Amino acid sequence: MSTVQPPVFAASSEVDNGTVPAHIAIIMDGNGRWALSRGLSRSDGHRAGVDAVERAVNAALDAGVGYLTLYGFSTENWRRPPLEVASLMGLVREVFGQGFIGRLQAKGVRVRFIGDRSALSRDVNWVMDRAENVTRNEKRLLLTIAFNYGSRQELVDAVRSVAAQVESGTLKAADVTEETVAGNLMTAGLPDPDLLIRTSGEKRISNFLLWQCAYAELVFSDVLWPDFSAEHFDAALSEFRARQRRFGAV
Ligand code: IPE
Ligand code: IPE
Ligand code: MG
Repeated sequence: MSTVQPPVFAASSEVDNGTVPAHIAIIMDGNGRWALSRGLSRSDGHRAGVDAVERAVNAALDAGVGYLTLYGFSTENWRRPPLEVASLMGLVREVFGQGFIGRLQAKGVRVRFIGDRSALSRDVNWVMDRAENVTRNEKRLLLTIAFNYGSRQELVDAVRSVAAQVESGTLKAADVTEETVAGNLMTAGLPDPDLLIRTSGEKRISNFLLWQCAYAELVFSDVLWPDFSAEHFDAALSEFRARQRRFGAV
């Protein structure tokens, strides 16, 4: 399992008194409906969604957010028609194989992918490795893209890994803590998301960061992902600022 180094990115909430989330996670939803309402194919909707990704990255940079995690493809999305799955894979190859990575690097964005890469083709793995390598020294924003990611599978993998350590005698069952579990997730080293945004009006988590979002503030936007702009991003930040976080206390 790949992990990141301990965070070196700005924990904005500390410098800004908690008003700016250090980590924002987004379920980018509604590409299909956006396309169908225009008489386009679902693949066209995914293509239009790529521009919204770049807008969201720029908005996060402007706001001083240190960590942005985007849900790009779930372990359940294999249930879609093969042509649509193929178009999403092709989009990854295209987007990360071109100028996008250079623009991210120039802005100080480090890119990482989480999810099961073993099911992805060699060329998709190649562009992912390349994007991670090219941007590995950038420190302004850590952009994590969840691709073939499912939170339940991630937890199963973590349990297996902890169980193997207990089996081999390097860890006692009684010594397993929340930190042990968190440290065996694909997000090891990242702070938990402070804010989870989902677009398109759906109000569900869809197997995204179940452990990590235990205390995330949830913001649901009716906007379809390809229409998501800096203004919508800022509106979500305003909603976050207006929330009172209690973490179980009074
Ligand atoms: C989100 O848009 C993108 C992915 C899940 C890959 P959808 O494709 O789910 O769009 P809708 O929900 O069908 O409109
Ligand atoms: C969640 O969206 C997955 C991604 C955004 C990548 P879906 O559109 O797949 O979720 P459901 O099926 O509506 O729950
Ligand atoms: Mg959807």
